[in-house]
Amino acid sequence: MDDWTLIAVVWMAFGVITFLALFFFKVTAPFGRHSRSDWGPMVNNTFGWMIMELPSLIFLWLSFLYFKNVTTPETAYLPLVLWSIHYINRTFIFPLRLKNKQKQMPLIVTGSAILFNLMNGILNGAFLAKGMFIQSYVLMIIGVIIFFVGMFINIKSDNILLALRLPGESGYKIPKGFLYRRVSSPNFLGEILEWFGFFIVTPSLASLSFLIWTLANLIPRARDHHEWYLKKFSNYPKDRKVLIPWVW
Ligand SMILES: NC(=O)c1ccc[n+]([C@@H]2O[C@H](COP(=O)([O-])OP(=O)(O)OC[C@H]3O[C@@H](n4cnc5c(N)ncnc54)[C@H](OP(=O)(O)O)[C@@H]3O)[C@@H](O)[C@H]2O)c1
Repeated sequence: MDDWTLIAVVWMAFGVITFLALFFFKVTAPFGRHSRSDWGPMVNNTFGWMIMELPSLIFLWLSFLYFKNVTTPETAYLPLVLWSIHYINRTFIFPLRLKNKQKQMPLIVTGSAILFNLMNGILNGAFLAKGMFIQSYVLMIIGVIIFFVGMFINIKSDNILLALRLPGESGYKIPKGFLYRRVSSPNFLGEILEWFGFFIVTPSLASLSFLIWTLANLIPRARDHHEWYLKKFSNYPKDRKVLIPWVW
């Protein structure tokens, strides 16, 4: 087993452990509606989002350019572009659209997300530059379709949430319409589909590890959001599922 394979396997194992902790021991990541002030120093939410997502974009490219050589396949550029499109939105556009400008998040969340994003960026950049992925045009086409369907669901669902508040408002309302008719967190469902599509575009241990980490973060968070809605709103639609329409 070469060094990069070992790093990816260990990273995936951490992802699985994180999932078990978040899901079964109900450790809720303290940002957004679950934000808490007893997790140490706080930073501005918008700044926190920007600074914690930026390493994904920067380190993917730095790692790719560092390891790139004559054997780097041209097919590596498609996943690089998909990743960049996602992270340009998540780093620069999404945070600036948040309505509650006073909101804060614990610095420890920002710090751990920086490490998480740095690791994912370096790992995926290296695997792409070294050609350590399955290359298939059929998979690329299928994966791109899944990726953009996921991105559409993610952004449309985030847009519905962001439109619930007027500028300066900070309270919560019951989201309605689109996939909110079926599940509490369609934005997470879309995000999971995106990274599943990315894995299909460029199947490798690196893209698999990122998919595992996305599932580890978002499945427990979707469950926590759903339970939070049920507690907060007595009129919350009872037939609305957590994440997978009609199933869970
Ligand atoms: N790949 C990954 O591992 C990963 C991990 C985490 C997040 N993400 C992505 O990052 C994005 C944001 O995640 P998040 O956990 O912050 O999502 P979220 O809890 O659904 O919130 C998204 C935004 O909408 C606001 N909002 C949510 N529900 C609302 C409601 N009922 N009424 C009014 N406003 C509401 C939130 O405000 P507040 O901040 O005030 O709650 C926040 O500004 C999502 O697209 C998610 O997929 C990805």
